Amino acid sequence: MRVYFDHNATTPLDPEVFEVMTRVLGEEFGNPSSVHHFGQRAKAVLDEARSQVARLINGEPSEVVFTSGGTEADNFALRGVAEALEPTGRRHLVATTIEHEAVLVTLKALARRGWTVTLLPVGATGIVSPDALREAITDRTALVSVMHANNEIGTVQPVEALAAIAHEHGALVHTDAVQSAGKLAVDARALGADLLSLSAHKFYGPKGAGALWIKRGTRVAAIMTGGRHERSRRAGTENVAGIAGLGAAAARAMTKLDAEATRLGALRDRLEHRILDTVPGTAVNGARAPRVPNTTNISFDGIEAESLLIALDLEGFAVSTGSACSSGTLEPSHVLRAMGLPSHRTQNSIRISLGARNTEAEVDAFLAKLPTVVGKLRTVTGARR
Ligand SMILES: Cc1ncc(COP(=O)(O)O)c(C=O)c1O
Repeated sequence: MRVYFDHNATTPLDPEVFEVMTRVLGEEFGNPSSVHHFGQRAKAVLDEARSQVARLINGEPSEVVFTSGGTEADNFALRGVAEALEPTGRRHLVATTIEHEAVLVTLKALARRGWTVTLLPVGATGIVSPDALREAITDRTALVSVMHANNEIGTVQPVEALAAIAHEHGALVHTDAVQSAGKLAVDARALGADLLSLSAHKFYGPKGAGALWIKRGTRVAAIMTGGRHERSRRAGTENVAGIAGLGAAAARAMTKLDAEATRLGALRDRLEHRILDTVPGTAVNGARAPRVPNTTNISFDGIEAESLLIALDLEGFAVSTGSACSSGTLEPSHVLRAMGLPSHRTQNSIRISLGARNTEAEVDAFLAKLPTVVGKLRTVTGARR
C-alpha cells in the first residue's frame, strides 16, 4: 500500500484534466498567435482557460497572464513591479519571513541591485500583524508581497488588512496564492491584491503551468521579453496543453471547493487530534491561526524529521519535511525558525498535506503505524545519546 500525503508539494493530475490535455495535445497543435484556422483554434483554447482561471479568483480574463508556474509568477510580480516603479523613486520592497523561496530569493537578487527589502516577522502563530506592516512601510515602498497560505504550516495571512495599509501608502500588493487557490475560495479583488500568483500543479493540474493575475491598470514590466504574446506582458509561445490543463483544473476546483474543504478539514483534524492523543511529545505548529484545511505540521520530540520521513516512506506513507525545495538539505525550516520555535523543533517537524484521493481508511492506517515508527526511532536516538 502506498499513501500520498504530500499534496502541498504537488497533486496528481485529475483524470478529467488529463483528458482535456491529451485532446489538446493531439488536436490543437496550432500556434495561438497564427491568424489562420489552426492558430485560432489554439487561441480559443487559451481564451477558455483564461476565463476559467479568472472565475476561480474573481478576476477578468484580460487580467490573467499565463506563466510557467508559481515561481515564474512570483518572479514576474516582484521583478516586473520593481522595474516598472524604479523611475518613481520607490525603491523599497516589503514581504514576510515565511514566504516561499520563489519570493525570498528573488528579493535577495533585487537587494543586490540596490533595492531595500524589509521582511516582516511572524509571531509564534505564523501570522503577520498589521502593526508590523504599519511600522515597516514608508511612502517609498513600491510593493508589499504577502503569501496567502503558507506551504509548510498552512497558515492564512490577513491579506485584506495588510493590503489596505499598503494602499494607504500608495504601494502595490502581491499575494502568492499558490497554496490557497483551489483549496480555499480565493477572491483577488476582495483580498485587495493588485497581483496574485497561482500554479496548476497544486490543484490537480499539470506542472509547468500557472498564472499571474494583474489587476487592470497595474504597472508591471514584462520580464520575459520577445514577441507580443499575452498582450506583450509575457513573451513566448504559450504552453497550450498545459494552459488547457490549468483551466480545466480551475474549473474542477470551483465545483469541488466547499465540499473538499469540509471533508479534508475533518480528516486533518482527526489526524491531528489522534496524533496528539496517541504519540507523546508531539505538538502542532501554527495550529492557533486560520489554516488551509488540508495541511498539518507536527513536531516529534527526540526525532530527526528526515529519519521519520524515511521510516514512514518505508511503511508506504509519503510525507514531507516542509517545502519540497528545501527537503533533502537538512536545513531547518525557515518558516518554523521565523515562528521562533526552539532549534530542536525546527528539525523534528513533518508536514502532512492531504488531498482529493485520501480517505479515512488511509488516515487510520497511518495512525495505526505512526506510534510504533516513532517509538522505534526514539529508541535508536536514545541509544545513540
Ligand atoms: C507558496 C508557493 N509559492 C510558489 C511555489 C512555486 O510554484 P511552482 O512549483 O509552480 O514553481 C510553491 C511551490 O511549492 C509554493 O508552495
